Amino acid sequence: MSLQGKHILLGVTGGIAAYKACELLRLLVKAGADVEVMMTKAAAQFVGPLTFETLSGKPVAEDMWDPKMRLPHISLRKNKDLIVVAPATANIIAKAANGIADDLVSSTLLARECPLMLCPAMNVQMWRNPATVRNVRTLKGDGVLFSGPEAGNQACGDVGEGRLREPAQILEDVEAFFTPSILSGKKVLMTAGPTFEPFDPVRGITNGSSGRQAAAIAAAAIRAGAEVTIVSGPVCVSYPDKAAVIPVRQAQEMFEAVKKELAEHTPDTFIGVAAVGDWRPVEYSESKLKKEKGQDTLTIKLIKNPDILSYVGHSGLCSAVIGFAAETDNLAENARKKLDSKAADMIVVNPASAIGSTQNQASFVTKNGIEAKELSSKAELAEEIIEALADLLKKRVI
Ligand code: CTP
Repeated sequence: MSLQGKHILLGVTGGIAAYKACELLRLLVKAGADVEVMMTKAAAQFVGPLTFETLSGKPVAEDMWDPKMRLPHISLRKNKDLIVVAPATANIIAKAANGIADDLVSSTLLARECPLMLCPAMNVQMWRNPATVRNVRTLKGDGVLFSGPEAGNQACGDVGEGRLREPAQILEDVEAFFTPSILSGKKVLMTAGPTFEPFDPVRGITNGSSGRQAAAIAAAAIRAGAEVTIVSGPVCVSYPDKAAVIPVRQAQEMFEAVKKELAEHTPDTFIGVAAVGDWRPVEYSESKLKKEKGQDTLTIKLIKNPDILSYVGHSGLCSAVIGFAAETDNLAENARKKLDSKAADMIVVNPASAIGSTQNQASFVTKNGIEAKELSSKAELAEEIIEALADLLKKRVI
């Protein structure tokens, strides 16, 4: 519930993307926000107010002259933490840039006392028109926030910039607005996912890892203001758009990519979330291995892979180094050993049963002891890891 206790006013203006505002409203409410909706007459041509009323559980404000509301543009702006306009048409952008107040939505924007985030949606030519470019520049200069637009296919058949950003991404921008930027200016390098060590063109050995916890940590780090690079083994999960992703397959490739990043981009933090294969086959057969008649066993000789976390920890190149340990027995004891042997600042230890699950029950092990966390979602755990990381980095600054 990242938006618990936040009061948001959602303005919907008249564009074909108005239907996506329903999904945005649903996501905001799901994230714990208290949302009121105001809409223009043009927006009501695309989606009826009843939909927004049902999703928000509150009456929808549409009319400046509603006899039931005294000065609606003044009462709507009260006690709000943020106003989000999605979709924001060229028309409302022009009005907001020039202080025009000729309907309920534009009047409320002019009377606002809180920050404003506009999520533009319009035809590519309208977006590129010098008048819109001027208006957007004016609004940015006034401190108005923008989420999108995106480029792609448009409802009118044109292709280009002007599509409404996807509701889930607008939600991320809203969450980022409310998250204090505790990692502002910091660079985070992560490993993620499993590695795959082939012994013939169609087979190999791998570890269990969905990449979900890494994706959640990357999203939390980005919200906290960090620049994030993920060196990832093969996963199906999608990483945040703002993260730079370097796809790899084998542990050795992951190691080379990490060393290159350390040398070229000097990250402040390393987080080893990957389930790196400890061993790889000594030999690789260029042809597929065939079963021999009467063969019951197959012996594959393995050789040790480099320990990436240990390399980064002992290199002293990062101010904070965090590792993970998925254990079946003696969780605290094993994590403490890994903290020392890998020269890490913190080990997040969790039961091996968390692999592939949406929930996690972890403990944070540092040289100061062990801190057990509640059973939580991977997103909640990610937030706690980022807070702990910010503390580690703060302690490094004397
Ligand atoms: N790790 C790594 N490189 C490896 C092995 C592990 O970077 N070759 C990192 C993982 O990303 C994780 C941490 O080390 O952050 C712990 O990994 P784990 O596999 O649990 O520990 P191991 O060192 O392999 O120890 P063991 O298998 O004995 O439990």
